[in-house]
Amino acid sequence: MRLSYFHVADDVPIDALPQVAVVIDVLRATTTIATAFNNGAEAVQTFSDLNELKKQSSNWPSSSRLLLGERGGKRLEGFDLGNSPVALKPNIVNGKRLFMSTTNGTKSLDRVKDVKNLYVMALINRKAVAKRLLKENPDDVLILGSGWEGSYSLEDSLAAGSLASFLLEASPGSINLVNDEINAALALWSFWKEDIEGCLRTATHGKRLESIGNHDDDFSCCSELDKINIVPCQSEQGVLRSY
Ligand code: MLT
Repeated sequence: MRLSYFHVADDVPIDALPQVAVVIDVLRATTTIATAFNNGAEAVQTFSDLNELKKQSSNWPSSSRLLLGERGGKRLEGFDLGNSPVALKPNIVNGKRLFMSTTNGTKSLDRVKDVKNLYVMALINRKAVAKRLLKENPDDVLILGSGWEGSYSLEDSLAAGSLASFLLEASPGSINLVNDEINAALALWSFWKEDIEGCLRTATHGKRLESIGNHDDDFSCCSELDKINIVPCQSEQGVLRSY
């Protein structure tokens, strides 16, 4: 299994999509998506375009839909929820379809929507995604972070390194790290793995979240390694389900 990591959507080579991609946005979109399914969401439909989100969600029964989204970390006006994973309580999301748009995470999902198998990972479901990859044993896995408006993200690289570390330990000799970004991510994980929340609070987006309000619960939730056994997968383009 060859692993490559790309920091942001625009870094992904146009004509070289492998069979399998793993999208990461630790603060907070992929943590939110994994939490939504852990709490019973029916599906998560993701949009990089807000007008398309509003158009498609209007065709869904209001009793079984929720609009979820942020720009700059702040909840979008008229949306039911922002992008805080701790707000997605079971009594709120159970059975609902979430229509979701975020600053960066949904852009990364859109960039690799044409792959055969698209998985969504955060730190909280890292082990679940790693075990799915080991079970399916694809030749190539493209890991894609989300960053911030085209810039590098410390927390997404940390998660990519945590995935590489788990796979290397679980299947020594059969995992190849094929670009510098994944090797750097592994080194980052080795440095920060004993202080995950400290890494998230050191990240520029972590400091951005701190600057717009108290996000202690989000930092705690986003830092909980291997907490839930959920693998969000793309069941059709733009639609995620857990299976
Ligand atoms: C993103 O899309 O970059 C993040 O999810 C933003 C956030 O929710 O803080």
